[in-house]
Amino acid sequence: MPNLAFTMISWVFLLLLPITIAVGKLPQAAPITSERISGSAGDVLEDDPVGRLKVYVYELPSKYNKKLLQKDPRCLTHMFAAEIFMHRFLLSSAVRTLNPEEADWFYTPVYPTCDLTPNGLPLPFKSPRIMRSAIQLISANWPYWNRTEGADHFFLVPHDFGACFHYQEEKAIERGILPLLQRATLVQTFGQRNHVCLNEGSITIPPYAPPQKMQAHLIPPDTPRSIFVYFRGLFYDVNNDPEGGYYARGARASIWENFKNNPLFDISTDHPTTYYEDMQRAIFCLCPLGWAPWSPRLVESVVFGCIPVIIADDIVLPFADAIPWEDIGVFVAEKDVPYLDTILTSIPPHVVLRKQRFLANPSMKKAMLFPQPAQPRDAFHQILNGLARKLPHQKTTYLKPGEKILNWTAGPTGDLKPCSSGATDDHRR
Ligand SMILES: *[C@@H]1O[C@H](CO)[C@@H](O)[C@H](O)[C@H]1NC(C)=O
Ligand SMILES: *[C@@H]1O[C@H](CO)[C@@H](O)[C@H](O)[C@H]1NC(C)=O
Repeated sequence: MPNLAFTMISWVFLLLLPITIAVGKLPQAAPITSERISGSAGDVLEDDPVGRLKVYVYELPSKYNKKLLQKDPRCLTHMFAAEIFMHRFLLSSAVRTLNPEEADWFYTPVYPTCDLTPNGLPLPFKSPRIMRSAIQLISANWPYWNRTEGADHFFLVPHDFGACFHYQEEKAIERGILPLLQRATLVQTFGQRNHVCLNEGSITIPPYAPPQKMQAHLIPPDTPRSIFVYFRGLFYDVNNDPEGGYYARGARASIWENFKNNPLFDISTDHPTTYYEDMQRAIFCLCPLGWAPWSPRLVESVVFGCIPVIIADDIVLPFADAIPWEDIGVFVAEKDVPYLDTILTSIPPHVVLRKQRFLANPSMKKAMLFPQPAQPRDAFHQILNGLARKLPHQKTTYLKPGEKILNWTAGPTGDLKPCSSGATDDHRR
């Protein structure tokens, strides 16, 4: 359809012109840095958690955390590294208390996904045992776990399906959330509505993306966005889904099949060295589901000011109670992927500009990142804000004397083995 393609291309040029002008004008017209985000949601991004909650950090033997990291320093750079950085952050945070009697929340520093295959894939087969062992330890040595069976405790479980601890959705669902964690607040990357691996009251966080590396690839902010739609990544996962249809529920395959020859779509499986720069030259960045609903692209899009096109039905986005995702992004139902071109080209330029202005707000970018050292309003602070908003604890948090709710022997028998037993499954994902 040459006519349609021509219309779309001329539309892009029309669109680029106002964006370039607007980007050049904006700093004077609207001092974005001090602009509070309008609407009730965005405001809480600016909250300061200090003074609103106190967190007690349990002291655990290093085999639950530091030793795992020593064994494999790659745990510091993969997309689940928030479990490590949150620990480091809390140790020196102003919300930390050394007196557990005055704590609102208890934190158990375990690195459940720091167990990588030689290829660097974190596979959470040992996670249930290490979690269980850590909980046994804190419940035997301090009175606080038994008082609530974990309802005033939070854990970082950033793996694909959180505390279900399996990389395949079907198996994760079958396992369910680790029984001992069912009353705790889970801080996790996974977010999908009505899913057994997402408890109500969980805090959904962004995956970890290395802030320094992203910073190093910034290009001048007035660079024109000459790419209409950008995506780099897998469309098919032939190793794990040889017949197709399971991976990304077919959405990525559909993107490729419908748009591989469309000149508005800069999409490919190659990962160029200019990946980060390219995102800064693009108007829309596709963020389709993969095996999980999210990917680091979501963080990258926000940081690089590329409007995220979220294709993941029922996704629960990071800090969704604080970040106005509807204003920033474009949501496309998985079944509507074949119409992506029409959907995106029919968004009026003023709406595109408005989304870009939201994205330009530094609060959005800060909330997506776990910088070293921490900064006000970053993802660490958003986690604390989320925990503070859940206070005061409800009456049901505290058990009556002698009351027991959790079953210590529930779950697959393999999970009940001691965590030092070195059996590893060698599954691939
Ligand atoms: C907590 O309860 C467990 C059994 O449910 C018990 O073994 C443990 O000693 C209790 N912890 C404390 C500190 O009393
Ligand atoms: C705890 O779970 C185990 C294994 O599923 C089960 O056999 C046992 O009956 C359960 N205990 C209670 C008190 O429900």
